[in-house]
Amino acid sequence: MLGRLNHVAIAVPDIEAARRHYREVLGAEVSAVEDQPEHGVRTVFVTLPNTKIELLGVLGETSPIAGFLARHPEGGIHHLCFEVADIRAARDALLARGMRILGDGEPRIGAHGRPVLFLHPKDHHGTLIELEQA
Ligand code: CO
Repeated sequence: MLGRLNHVAIAVPDIEAARRHYREVLGAEVSAVEDQPEHGVRTVFVTLPNTKIELLGVLGETSPIAGFLARHPEGGIHHLCFEVADIRAARDALLARGMRILGDGEPRIGAHGRPVLFLHPKDHHGTLIELEQA
């Protein structure tokens, strides 16, 4: 079911500072900061030779990462995103195995314009998993 690692997402309290850090200290290729109002986050993509890092900052009062940052004020790894060929087929197979899908179970359009779903971290050894249709 799982394909390539699409990205590792890191929630950060200051996305401008994190962007500068990845560019100037770690010497990585970084995107501009983009607001994603439909997701309540601001994103920066760090492009690596084999995958991406998604830096996530808070946008708005009801950001889905606000609770995470309250528990991890310095930031930290928030989720892993794996590619799947057919997101609805992957969802149905996971549901048949007793896995929980967050939200209403319908794929939403994610930060890259492709359908995504999130899996309950308690079903996956404490890791929030995002599936993205490749
Ligand atoms: Co993601």
